[in-house]
Amino acid sequence: MRHLLIAGGAGFIGSNFVHYMLEKYDDYTIIVFDKLTYAGRLENLERCRSNPRFRFIQGDICDMAAVREAVQRHDIDSIINFAAETHVDRSIMEPDAVVTTNINGTWVLLEVARELKLERFHQISTDEVYGAIPAPSRSKEGDPLEPRSPYSASKAGAEHLVYAYFITYGLPVTTTRGSNNIGPFHYPEKAVPLFTTNAIENIPLPIYGDGLQMRDYQYVLDHCEGIDLVLHKGALGEVYNVGTEVETPNIEMAHKILDLLGKPRSLIQHVVDRAGHDRRYALDCAKLRALGWRSQHSFDQALEKTVRWFVANEGWWRPIKSGEYLDYYRKQYEERG
Ligand code: NAD
Ligand code: TYD
Repeated sequence: MRHLLIAGGAGFIGSNFVHYMLEKYDDYTIIVFDKLTYAGRLENLERCRSNPRFRFIQGDICDMAAVREAVQRHDIDSIINFAAETHVDRSIMEPDAVVTTNINGTWVLLEVARELKLERFHQISTDEVYGAIPAPSRSKEGDPLEPRSPYSASKAGAEHLVYAYFITYGLPVTTTRGSNNIGPFHYPEKAVPLFTTNAIENIPLPIYGDGLQMRDYQYVLDHCEGIDLVLHKGALGEVYNVGTEVETPNIEMAHKILDLLGKPRSLIQHVVDRAGHDRRYALDCAKLRALGWRSQHSFDQALEKTVRWFVANEGWWRPIKSGEYLDYYRKQYEERG
């Protein structure tokens, strides 16, 4: 595994993974293949633009000819698929994009990987495919998938295709199911960067419903380490959960952000809940731990690093919070009151 095509590498986790891999492996070349949707940003890759082992290609994973051309031209041996429409709320407003990119796009990548006999196809999936998990249960990799939003259903559909290509065609695949990531370059439509940037701007923090929904918020580089480990030590055809195994209610997360920024709790505003909102996700990560992985950041450490990054990088997020973003924000939050 030396020449990696990172689909969706201009997004939040993908770009962190690109930096991580270029720094860790000095004999790897990294080709980012990304459509540059509203969530994909070349600025995220600024640090590696001059690296001779890095290339960027703008392209759509649904375009088979473009994917094939990129793989052949750059002698790619492995595809790692981060590319997706990733926001649950947008998937509720407009479900067509998640179906097209997350399912059809993954199929296109699999088809090219099969045709060109690649060494590995790795799918980046999510803890959301398990559906809502009542306490004290935790999801293990063999549990049934019971996705409940258009986003999570599309990610589960993609996973089934990945597994089908392993069983039917013998394609060497692996999959990771990560919990919620936080850290640098996180697009400010997701809860943690949205609350952080709103708090900096003294804009209300919109908490859905009672705010007692729980998520396992992990630091993005811990997730990248987990993916790297599975790429190098994971068993083919297997799925690995990646998370901290600690869940935090959203309201507590919001309080901590306000405290870190020295802002008043009065900025919190409870708004109409998300349709079909999953109350809790919780992973059992014993399978990945057995490969030697440990999450390096507690929730508090991860959140503090993330908030500090947003404070220090206003030049990254302020331009994003304009134009299309404001249209989306109005549509999403005005109706919620
Ligand atoms: P993101 O929305 O920040 O980035 C997605 C990237 O995919 C963007 O660069 C976008 O331009 C690109 N993209 C979208 N459609 C494309 C297409 N048709 N062709 C090529 N590129 C396309 O997402 P993220 O948060 O970095 O998530 C990355 C992956 O990790 C996704 O597969 C997501 O489902 C998964 N995941 C995310 C989280 C999380 O907390 N963010 C947790 C678990 C798993
Ligand atoms: P999000 O970051 O969208 O991730 P996901 O829904 O994929 O887990 O949301 C994290 C949690 O925060 C989730 O329970 C929904 C909630 N949330 C809010 O309360 N308000 C918001 O404005 C957003 C975007 C999310």
